[in-house]
Amino acid sequence: ATAQVGVTGLAVMGRNLARNLARNGFTVAVHNRSPERTRRLIAEHGGEGTFVPSESLGDFVDSLERPRAIIVMVKAGAPTDAVVNELVPLLEPGDIVVDCGNAHFAATRRREETLRGHGLHFVGTGVSGGEEGALHGPSIMPGGSAESYARLGPMFEKIAAQVDGTPCCRHIGPDGAGHFVKMVHNGIEYADMQLIAEAYDLLRAGMSASPAEIAEIFREWNSGELESFLIEITADVLAHTDAATGRPFVDVVLDQAEQKGTGRWTVQNALDLGIPITGIAEATFARSLSGHADQRAAARRAFAAASEKWQVEERGTFVEDVRRALLASKIVAYAQGFDHIRAGSREYDWNIDLGGTATIWRGGCIIRARFLDRIREAYDAEPELPTLLVAPWFAETVNAGVPGWRKVVAYAARAGVPTPAFSSSLAYFDALRAERLPAALIQALRDDFGAHTYRRVDRAGSFHTLWAGDRSEVEA
Ligand code: 6PG
Repeated sequence: ATAQVGVTGLAVMGRNLARNLARNGFTVAVHNRSPERTRRLIAEHGGEGTFVPSESLGDFVDSLERPRAIIVMVKAGAPTDAVVNELVPLLEPGDIVVDCGNAHFAATRRREETLRGHGLHFVGTGVSGGEEGALHGPSIMPGGSAESYARLGPMFEKIAAQVDGTPCCRHIGPDGAGHFVKMVHNGIEYADMQLIAEAYDLLRAGMSASPAEIAEIFREWNSGELESFLIEITADVLAHTDAATGRPFVDVVLDQAEQKGTGRWTVQNALDLGIPITGIAEATFARSLSGHADQRAAARRAFAAASEKWQVEERGTFVEDVRRALLASKIVAYAQGFDHIRAGSREYDWNIDLGGTATIWRGGCIIRARFLDRIREAYDAEPELPTLLVAPWFAETVNAGVPGWRKVVAYAARAGVPTPAFSSSLAYFDALRAERLPAALIQALRDDFGAHTYRRVDRAGSFHTLWAGDRSEVEA
């Protein structure tokens, strides 16, 4: 047994992770259900490092040093269970199975418990950064036991992206913590993308700007506070021309956004935990709305396109307002995402370090951004921060952006440009800072029709008004 780490499942993500490990000097056992992929990896990339190929799972397991560290990189769901079930009888106590797929954290918790019963470690690990990230340095979010991290950490930290000399990898917490954090990462990714899409749509509608012109605006934004991978590739995509038609590429892509489901999981779990991640939810629903082609066609026939022909007066001011609206809404989405992580951490007893999570998202992952340094600083300075919105830099930035944000949302409403994420983020901000919310009326109504009781502003306790009787108040 000579290999330090193994990878089974050699589709593009697995292959690139294996290559990354080998390029970093680790001896990597490789295996794939159909051996052609293993042979191709060796033929095409065998020279990049030391690989130990096996055609059977048994040989693969035998080729690994103990305690074994085996990365499983197959489709989430049934394929993961199939590989794990096949592996378990071949392993020995102390061995580690690492699931680097996009598994649901609840499935990871279940698998971790089962393998723990066999004396094995199961490490659900979030990996972000797509194919390129896997090869050149992803952001890595491992869950599982501290003991397993002691074995895996040095390898993962070496192959991860590095920012200012710090690896974009850290132990997130026990059992499903890594996959949970990756799930919320993806939810934030949905919000980020929806906000970018709304900004683009507004610039296009409000200034009759071409995609190429908007690409320039994004390019410029990318040199300021908004600097991030997604803003950078937005500029690239908007500048791209379709070869077949000569039209802007974005105009030939069907406008129905798909998803594999991690955003949906984030929203589902946030509902269970009672955390209002409205930006992520709007982004997820905006994708599903876009896919309802029949309803959209029917509504297009029934209603004229926009309520009012609309041109902004001053381009420069408008662009700056949209930038501020984007930045403020983005801050809201991240504040909500980090609230969600904190709630998950409490619910499942994970003790997740929020500043540390921001640290490992600064590089490698899809939402990597300059901005994440600010989040790290905010949580490092005040770990119990009630919401990211009130940390000094965020509060200042949001305050400075509010007038522009309101103008943009009002413009959009008047012009009939849908901005669900911009609008709901502004509503969230206004609700949080409101002196009084109409929730009082909701409570009164609940008490009226269902005797659900209410609390008072001036006295402790729960009360009920005898609505159908003499309307006197009784203590509940
Ligand atoms: C990443 C991404 C990745 C995700 C894709 C597609 O962090 O590298 O989040 O894990 O699968 O971005 O996700 P959707 O198909 O749900 O948009």
